[in-house]
Amino acid sequence: MDSANNKIKGVVLAGGLGKRLYPLTKITNKHLLPVFNKPMIFYPIQTLVDAGIEDILIVTGGNHAGEFLRLLGNGHQFGLKHLNYAYQEGEGGIAEALGLAEHFAEGCRIMVVLGDNIIEKSIKRAVDGYRKEKGGAKIFLKEVEDPERFGVVEMQGDKIISIEEKPKEPKSDYAVTGIYMYDNAVFNIIKRLEPSGRGELEITDVNKKYIQMDKLTYEILDGWWTDSGTFDSLLKANNLVAKKEHEEKEKNKVDLCI
Ligand code: G1P
Repeated sequence: MDSANNKIKGVVLAGGLGKRLYPLTKITNKHLLPVFNKPMIFYPIQTLVDAGIEDILIVTGGNHAGEFLRLLGNGHQFGLKHLNYAYQEGEGGIAEALGLAEHFAEGCRIMVVLGDNIIEKSIKRAVDGYRKEKGGAKIFLKEVEDPERFGVVEMQGDKIISIEEKPKEPKSDYAVTGIYMYDNAVFNIIKRLEPSGRGELEITDVNKKYIQMDKLTYEILDGWWTDSGTFDSLLKANNLVAKKEHEEKEKNKVDLCI
């Protein structure tokens, strides 16, 4: 049985105005847009479920929050008993949205997935590994061709020594993906954060605090990863998911000897 110390609850962050996808997001929330055959938010929820996480909070905001309830209900299509919802007022950033999960977390650890992040393979092994660790934070990295679009790590040996948000001159090709695991200290860290230049509480600043405390570890993601918050990455996400679905269909045919 999980104790409050090593139990992990899941949080999907699905707020924001999706400005980079305007006018697609003029009358709906970014995370409700289609990615091949499902709404975008299905993928991060499935990421959590595949990692063995059953208590899930969806944090949303803006004008279309009610649509999430209509779409997802109690989460039965994911095999969940129920889903939890929270509402972010305004545009305070990813870390502010995460702060809304404090009450839901009830002292447990949390695994956070940004609502526009899609991955190819299950990360259950890494999540189970984190469960056995003493605490701290663990982030998932992926080597990319366009690191300047993301949070980027600087490494020394096998240690992360710094993270820069969207650097003009990235110190490595390793992007910080939108999948994070935190112990309960994260909520006090968020309360002490100062807004960044763009007036938001940044998730990168949360991760930097864990570096300062020498409590940030990482895993390199296996398989593909993409965000889907720009026209090009949304197209890429559609193509990657379509390819995966078609491959799985073919594989099932072979397995069934059709
Ligand atoms: C956010 C984070 C960034 C991270 C990215 C992953 O950026 O701030 O560090 O690399 O998600 O998708 P955003 O997409 O909100 O600009």
